[in-house]
Amino acid sequence: MRHRQAAAVLAAGGLFGTVAFVGGDEIPEKAPQKLPTAVVNTHELMEIFSEPLYEHLKADMAKEPADKKAWSHIKHHGIEAAEIANLIAIRETDDAAKWDPLARDAQQSGLDLARAAASQDWPKTQAAYQSLIKNCNDCHQAFGKDKAPELEP
Ligand code: HEC
Repeated sequence: MRHRQAAAVLAAGGLFGTVAFVGGDEIPEKAPQKLPTAVVNTHELMEIFSEPLYEHLKADMAKEPADKKAWSHIKHHGIEAAEIANLIAIRETDDAAKWDPLARDAQQSGLDLARAAASQDWPKTQAAYQSLIKNCNDCHQAFGKDKAPELEP
């Protein structure tokens, strides 16, 4: 009996998993039993999480940080990028063999940026930033067709 209930819950979780990609203003009413489950589609993930990250980071990278707090902002954006890569990684895709390594590269780039900023090394931080943006663009070229932007560092 216990076993059967567990199986039913799993089946429901699987079902929710397939319908979790909503568009427009549709917000799911119930969180599925099993997380992680994507809440929005890739377009909205990028608009809500990646775009603000990009804008804040670009502004912070405009000049060398003058104090600890400014370095710390950049470090936090690196960590943010690395964590968002987890959200990217759980999206459903029809080409996981290409998508998964790009998501992993995004996490690596975020970690590299965070570490460079933590060491307060400006040339290293600039290089890590360039490489993070290149990684965004690599995936946009591979998967975005005409929908994903070519981002300027
Ligand atoms: C593994 C793939 C992948 C990575 C990595 C990725 N993106 Fe995207 N991004 C996409 C795809 C696919 C789209 C197009 C989504 C759509 O509109 O269908 C997109 C779209 C966007 C958009 C346009 C959103 C809109 O409102 O039209 C922005 C902005 C964006 N990405 C920012 C970023 C930034 C910044 C990074 C890196 C820090 C990044 N993305 C990394 C796949 C990726």
